[in-house]
Amino acid sequence: MTGGADIERVRTIADLRRCIAEWRAAGLSIGLVPTMGALHEGHLALVEAAVGGCDRTIVTLFVNPAQFGPNEDFAVYPRDEDRDAGLVTRAGADLLFAPNVDEVYPPDHATQVHVSGLGDILEGEHRPGFFTGVATVVSKLLLQSLPDRAYFGEKDYQQLCVIRRLTRDLDIPVSIAGVKTVREEDGLALSSRNAYLTTAERAVAPVLHGTIAQVAEQVGRGEDPRDQAQWAIDQLRRAGFGDVDYVTVRNAETLQEAVDASLPARVLAAAWLGKARLIDNVAV
Ligand code: PAF
Repeated sequence: MTGGADIERVRTIADLRRCIAEWRAAGLSIGLVPTMGALHEGHLALVEAAVGGCDRTIVTLFVNPAQFGPNEDFAVYPRDEDRDAGLVTRAGADLLFAPNVDEVYPPDHATQVHVSGLGDILEGEHRPGFFTGVATVVSKLLLQSLPDRAYFGEKDYQQLCVIRRLTRDLDIPVSIAGVKTVREEDGLALSSRNAYLTTAERAVAPVLHGTIAQVAEQVGRGEDPRDQAQWAIDQLRRAGFGDVDYVTVRNAETLQEAVDASLPARVLAAAWLGKARLIDNVAV
């Protein structure tokens, strides 16, 4: 273990469990905030929710190779553990779990968690293997720490749905809390990958949120979801986005096409702007 004025950092599952056992023996409740580092205000909102809701907060920092495709940004994903440790210390977290890849995936690791259906559509279709990587690592993190609650951002709305489903399906006794998306003043959802935007692209990026917010409003007024989604795709292209992977209105829980207007729905979108692939979603 290493520490100092900064938060205590642990690297092994055994050390993590030792700390947790002490807290449990003292009757304390535990919140878990899984992250891949490169922390921003969106992550800190998760930490604040955990600190407010639980006696002790663990932040995990692990850039999970299993959720990156072969042509994705694993090698260049921003990593600065000391900076992230400072941020979560100030946000009031109690422990940073930052394991090495071998600790999480021993060389003969052979088990994966796949959430069929929900994990195969939308992001799952455009990023094959992504949700299996997420579901596997999140299952492991939940089982390693068995917190009372684990916190995830609504920014990655499908990820939140997948995690709720695996937790239920695998009977993992942890409650999953979704935390509202944190946005820049112009509406752009905070994301570690916004760093890939050029100044010109950054100026266009908020059109994504503005457009899907209009879709949500129109669908809420009874307009046809498919027509609205097509309108949004045209808007994004006109604004300067490249490929629009999807804009779609879905049932907020199953993420199937929203056919029953009386059930909660969500507008979800993913589109390319230069080298950055932006995703966002809003409630109808
Ligand atoms: O949302 C993320 O940062 C990651 O997908 C998560 C949940 C930490 C799993 O690696």
